[in-house]
Amino acid sequence: MEVRVENGGSYEVGKSGWGKSLPVPSIQEIVRSDSQSEGPIISEYVADSLEIPVIDFSFLANGDEDEVQKLHLACKDWGFFHVINHGVKEQILEKIKAAVAAFFELPFQEKKKYAKAENETEGYGQNFVVSEHQKLDWSDMIYLLTLPSQNRNFKFWPLSLPGFKEASEEYSREMQKIAEELQANFSVLMGLKRDGLKRLQGGELKQGIRKNYYPICSRPDLVLGCSPHSDGTSFTLLLQDDDVPGLQIKHNEAWVPVKPIPNSLVVNIGDATEIQSNGMYKSIEHRAIINEKKPRISIATFMFPDDEQEIGPVETMIDDQNHPKLYRNIKYVDYVREMFSRKMEGKAHSTQF
Ligand code: SIN
Ligand code: FE2
Repeated sequence: MEVRVENGGSYEVGKSGWGKSLPVPSIQEIVRSDSQSEGPIISEYVADSLEIPVIDFSFLANGDEDEVQKLHLACKDWGFFHVINHGVKEQILEKIKAAVAAFFELPFQEKKKYAKAENETEGYGQNFVVSEHQKLDWSDMIYLLTLPSQNRNFKFWPLSLPGFKEASEEYSREMQKIAEELQANFSVLMGLKRDGLKRLQGGELKQGIRKNYYPICSRPDLVLGCSPHSDGTSFTLLLQDDDVPGLQIKHNEAWVPVKPIPNSLVVNIGDATEIQSNGMYKSIEHRAIINEKKPRISIATFMFPDDEQEIGPVETMIDDQNHPKLYRNIKYVDYVREMFSRKMEGKAHSTQF
């Protein structure tokens, strides 16, 4: 669906480039002005009865071998899994959700103060806007770098919003703990020591948190909240509304809806892990649909390597006989630049041989 401005012209979203800002107001504002136009109907097979695997984090953290094996299969066969019993207090989850809801409830003039600037990825705006005249997703977002903490760019943080900073920092710390444990398990499953991937990466992964807001839409069959894409991260941890589903993942050519489990997180393997694991784990295409009756909020925590880091299949995952190297090495910043230089439609690994 193409979103149109009131005078009838399509929004111009700037020339192709990484993180270009966009002279588009917000999807929330478009909904308010009711100026959307008709577009193609979304009609693809949805496998409603399938469920993604569930991983019990407390077992993983205790080194339970069966759970590690379950994690391996989840990453190999699905690329997506729920994480339950992660130990993050419900109150912390509620606090971040409330802070995000409060941000999107601010008047547009207020939110605009934190707008993404030209060539920046951080701030308030729309997702995946990389080319002129592209169809916009039905969502607004605010993306903030959160770790390492010296990377926080407070000019993009709504500091005057009570509780936002505290809730975001607290949530960031909690996600970091879970991410560390997951990364240690991925290392072991790739034949390395627990700190193997961390060492290869020269330290901790970076973290950025994107808060998404999907306004209601009277014709949810005509638009997508988030177009199909795979994440360019090492992995992503997603917190979503318990009562407004929306995430769907591609599995055996069908879209499988991820039904929210209260207080759980949804984790997905990103492109960097697919590459490092030499294809053993898959970075799966996913999308978000929107709701006719309720707006939806989701909070995506991206864990990713440093820009200067070279990513490629780890040695333990390559053997010339059975598992030849499938991806070329690339500096992470170059990988991301290539990824953002095209509208992220579906999945495409530029580094695959
Ligand atoms: C995303 O994949 O970027 C967002 C997914 C969601 O909101 O469920
Ligand atoms: Fe995603």
